[in-house]
Amino acid sequence: MNKMLTGIRSTGEPHLGNILSVIIPSVKMANENKKFSSFIFIADLHSLIKNDNLNIKEIKCNTYKIISAWLAFGLDINNCFLFRQSDISEVTELAWYFSCFFPYNRLTLVHSFKKNYKKNNIKKTIKNSINVGLFTYPILMAADILLYDAEIIPVGKDQLQHIEITRTIANSINRKIKKNIFVIPKVFLQKKNQLVIGTDGNKMSKSKNNCINIFSSEKILKKQIMNIKTDNKSIEDKKDPDKDYIISIYKLIANEYKVDVMKKKYLNGGYGYLEAKIELYEHIMKKFSKERKMFFKFMKNIDFLDKILFYNAKKIKKIAHKKLNCIREHFNFNSLF
Ligand code: TRP
Repeated sequence: MNKMLTGIRSTGEPHLGNILSVIIPSVKMANENKKFSSFIFIADLHSLIKNDNLNIKEIKCNTYKIISAWLAFGLDINNCFLFRQSDISEVTELAWYFSCFFPYNRLTLVHSFKKNYKKNNIKKTIKNSINVGLFTYPILMAADILLYDAEIIPVGKDQLQHIEITRTIANSINRKIKKNIFVIPKVFLQKKNQLVIGTDGNKMSKSKNNCINIFSSEKILKKQIMNIKTDNKSIEDKKDPDKDYIISIYKLIANEYKVDVMKKKYLNGGYGYLEAKIELYEHIMKKFSKERKMFFKFMKNIDFLDKILFYNAKKIKKIAHKKLNCIREHFNFNSLF
């Protein structure tokens, strides 16, 4: 049986980028293909790398938001494991073994680390220094994947380098131990939505504050859409649909016909960016109205969400424990339990 695994960091409601590139394709894979066994988790340990204004209550609430989003998009929980990363402490032990066998220099080349390191180096104070968790992020991610023998990993394009590191780790440990302990995973990329841009034209990401959160209140969602950057052409002006972020986002969720209609309006002039934004907003509200309703319903039923987490943690823990023991045995760290 093929194993699929993916995770989303619990940093708030999943944004449109998470939904299009991870949630929708993974739900399809998990629900429709009975040949898959699917592991879907909330990466709450990974979410700790950003902790400037850490609010402990929020961490848990964010976990509920991610679960509710998966459920709102119809994930069949009878056909997959939906669990929380922090419930399976085996993953952090495995990450430690990996970190002892992975070259420091290679980690310094990871894009997400390099970007933050550069930014941080300008300030040059220890107080403002980036944390070690950010540096070893890909190692914990490798443990997330290799602990469960996952083969197929649906992720956004920005995660490719992390999966490549996971493959390297799996190969090198297999070679060192002279056993094929770890399965070498493969990425599954959603072609159509390879890169979801945010309101400023950069990749949509919480840290860039450019997200469209389809699960936020109408007021916030409207504000986010109104914030989409445009040039300052007036209503009458003809506009270039190929250099426009509103259409780029609209394209991700509207059919070709609708996109063509909007493009024509741009080319003809007499159609303002405000109107385009309102059209985008209304389209989102209509397209995701069922999912929004479900999301808010699940968020009111925390007991149910807790039950899912508890039930899955119990099952997953056994799988994780068994796999970790393979490595422990290699080091003669015999488990007493
Ligand atoms: N790094 C992923 C993200 O930010 C989340 C994640 C953590 C993940 N561990 C994973 C994704 C393992 C896939 C597999 O989106």
